[in-house]
Amino acid sequence: MSDNAIQQMKQAVAKAAADRVKSGMVVGLGTGSTTAFVIQFLGDRLRNGELSNIAGVPTSFQASVLAKKHGIPLVTLDDVEKLDIAIDGADEVDPAKNLIKGGGAAHTREKIVDSLAEQFLVVVDSSKLVQKLGSTFPVPVEVLPLAVTPVSRALQALGGRPELRMGVKKDGPVVTDQGNLILDVKFDDIPNPAELEKTLNNIPGVVENGLFVNLADVILIGEIVDGQPCVREMR
Ligand code: 5RP
Repeated sequence: MSDNAIQQMKQAVAKAAADRVKSGMVVGLGTGSTTAFVIQFLGDRLRNGELSNIAGVPTSFQASVLAKKHGIPLVTLDDVEKLDIAIDGADEVDPAKNLIKGGGAAHTREKIVDSLAEQFLVVVDSSKLVQKLGSTFPVPVEVLPLAVTPVSRALQALGGRPELRMGVKKDGPVVTDQGNLILDVKFDDIPNPAELEKTLNNIPGVVENGLFVNLADVILIGEIVDGQPCVREMR
């Protein structure tokens, strides 16, 4: 699939998701290149008067910067009890709507915000659909820096192959918004994602992992049909 086609799918699905937001809603703002378009489209709708009185809860520094740029008022989790909707991307989606997230190292805050939403809406292009989680993407695990070595050993004991995520255009490892590190863990097979999600979070030193099981309500998929970008909902 060409880069241009992927961009078209991301824009189409982002527009469809932004159109589902109604005035007065508290909206979780996801992280990544697809949700960057969502934030831009929400800003457009606010500016042209189609939408009013929304408040965003950002899932990362990136989301917060983009929301400010596009004029979306922000609140924190201290200000609201729940969110009406959270819109977020994913790195893999399986047929049961379970996800791998964390390609942008933001999955810890994303899981907190997305789980507080009445509706968690996931926006992906069709390249993210898989039959089994872990087939194309490793599971990102956020780890306290002092625990990287023991956590790596524990992950290997579980059959995983952890790799410390390194920065791009920055020497050294990726440091998360919380000041932690990311181990990307490749598993040959994830027979039970729900169990692995809990097992990973039980390792002392792990802050959160990128398996999102039984959390997503709606998956919107951007695809190209007959050369045209279009959007469908996963059934
Ligand atoms: C960030 C994420 C992103 O939502 C995920 O990586 C998808 O990103 P993109 O929309 O750029 O493909 O989980 O931590």
